Amino acid sequence: MKLLIDDANIDAIKALYPIYPIDGVTTNPSILAKSGRQPYDVLREIRAFIGAEAELHVQVVGRTADAMLEDVERIHAELGAQTYTKIPVNPAGLEAIQRLRKAQPDAHITATAIYTPMQAFLAAKAGADYAAPYINRIDNLGADGIATAKIIQDMFTKNGLPCNILAASFKNSQQVQALAQYGVGAATIAPAVIEGLVRNAAVAAAIDDFTRDFESLCGKGVTMKDAK
Ligand code: G3P
Repeated sequence: MKLLIDDANIDAIKALYPIYPIDGVTTNPSILAKSGRQPYDVLREIRAFIGAEAELHVQVVGRTADAMLEDVERIHAELGAQTYTKIPVNPAGLEAIQRLRKAQPDAHITATAIYTPMQAFLAAKAGADYAAPYINRIDNLGADGIATAKIIQDMFTKNGLPCNILAASFKNSQQVQALAQYGVGAATIAPAVIEGLVRNAAVAAAIDDFTRDFESLCGKGVTMKDAK
């Protein structure tokens, strides 16, 4: 399962990248608004930092298929044709996905705003590379986000659809773990939830104990590099 950062804060992205095995960055219009910066200013900076090969997902904002495809054209021009364009799965979005796939067989397409398995199924048939179910938002509707993602994964496998899940909207580590265990293609996660994946008082205490025991043997601040 690939891991992506669901954020447009360049400082947060720069802080997480050296620590965690990250495969890319996803954004949406709300995330860009939260950055408080003009979209292409921040997106160009993210692209320059993560490099041309890493996945960058940028959402269209147009509300018709024509307007979505114009957004795709500008996103590709500004950030590279390898950029994944996120297209919401409503009727206009499905039309846009089909037209984009026909016009640009190599385009990278992420179908987004997915709350139901049938949205994902139709997006995959239309030609999307990724389908992005919103795990926590589905939970908040009284449904089951993890179960929905598993149904989508099974539908893709059983129908031979070459589409992967890019699960989004996580609130906690357990949601991420359940999907890693199921082997979905990717998860995009907000910085605070990424940091929570390894935040554990027992781990911190164990490492503190190792340091204290070693220092009792060798002296304060001594590590293996300067021990006798
Ligand atoms: O792009 C969709 C995803 O970012 C939604 O996450 O936390 O706003 O539910 P959230």
